[in-house]
Amino acid sequence: MKTKITEMLGIEHPIIQGGMHYVGFAELAAAVSNAGGLGIITGLTQKTPADLANEIARCKDMTDKPIGVNVTFLPIVNTPDYPAIIKAIIKGGVKVVETAGNNPSKVLPYLKDAGIKVIHKCTSVRHALKAQSIGCDAASIDGFECGGHPGEDDVPNMILLPRAADVLEIPFISSGGQADGRSLVASLAMGAEGMNMGTRFIATKEAPVHENVKQAIVNASELDTRLVMRSLRNTERVMNNTAVEKLLEKEKQLGDKLTFDDIIDEVAGVYPRIMMEGDMDAGAWSCGMVAGLINDIPTVQELIDRIMLEANEIITDRLSGLIDRDKS
Ligand SMILES: Cc1cc2nc3c(=O)[nH]c(=O)nc-3n(C[C@H](O)[C@H](O)[C@H](O)COP(=O)(O)O)c2cc1C
Repeated sequence: MKTKITEMLGIEHPIIQGGMHYVGFAELAAAVSNAGGLGIITGLTQKTPADLANEIARCKDMTDKPIGVNVTFLPIVNTPDYPAIIKAIIKGGVKVVETAGNNPSKVLPYLKDAGIKVIHKCTSVRHALKAQSIGCDAASIDGFECGGHPGEDDVPNMILLPRAADVLEIPFISSGGQADGRSLVASLAMGAEGMNMGTRFIATKEAPVHENVKQAIVNASELDTRLVMRSLRNTERVMNNTAVEKLLEKEKQLGDKLTFDDIIDEVAGVYPRIMMEGDMDAGAWSCGMVAGLINDIPTVQELIDRIMLEANEIITDRLSGLIDRDKS
């Protein structure tokens, strides 16, 4: 399939794997890129810029196709060394950077000078317009249903994507709630040039996370995620578990008085225990409502092939068959 995004990024299929903390390692990114999509390494999961440089090199040993790196700007206690991270990305020969969390204007000139395409992930149309105005090449429009941080506006993709299509000049991809060929065709119909998936890619053979995480996604329905940290204006959609229930109870009791310190046990440093050790109640971990559409653990190649086949069938058989040619 050819879209503005496949052309811009030099990839075969308009499918991108979003940055995911403690999931987006070289193995997954390479598998997605080898299957014709764009795989993305999560920059901040690597402890140092030197580790990130190694991870990029490891990924490039596994694929000759374009790969990306996610750079997230979030309120974290110890600010990462962003200039050194950007240097590692440029030196590593990475073709695409997914920025998220905050305006990437400080790093943009360096990335653009190096010929790197920048896709900024936004949860609102106003943020997408801002990304366009500062020179981002594309936007990733992350709807309210997404796993991770959906922002504070709570607008789902059924509204957000056509709104983005009405005002944006740069190409954009859908993100949040995407799982299959139906998602891709719907995204294209609403003006997107491709789709970004997070949760769906965790439940694949190559995702380098504990089997318990994959099974939790397969077992979950669309009702099993919760929104946490609302009162801190740092809302995150996570999989429900006993730690999340405890966290929500604290939020209920403390209301607007809640501080980050009150919930530190449930949210800080829990990812390695969940993703590596499979301790599913260790804390809050990002997961999308799309878990309700995920029922298997295919290889990345099987998943992407299946999506493209289904999308082609929907477009060529089902949709074109709906048109009453006598009347049109
Ligand atoms: C476990 C997990 C970790 C994530 N970590 C990050 C991250 O570090 N940076 C980021 O920009 N997005 C992160 N995301 C968001 C994804 O990149 C993507 O935008 C989101 O998963 C899309 O929604 P979906 O899960 O419904 O596909 C994470 C998502 C998940 C599920």
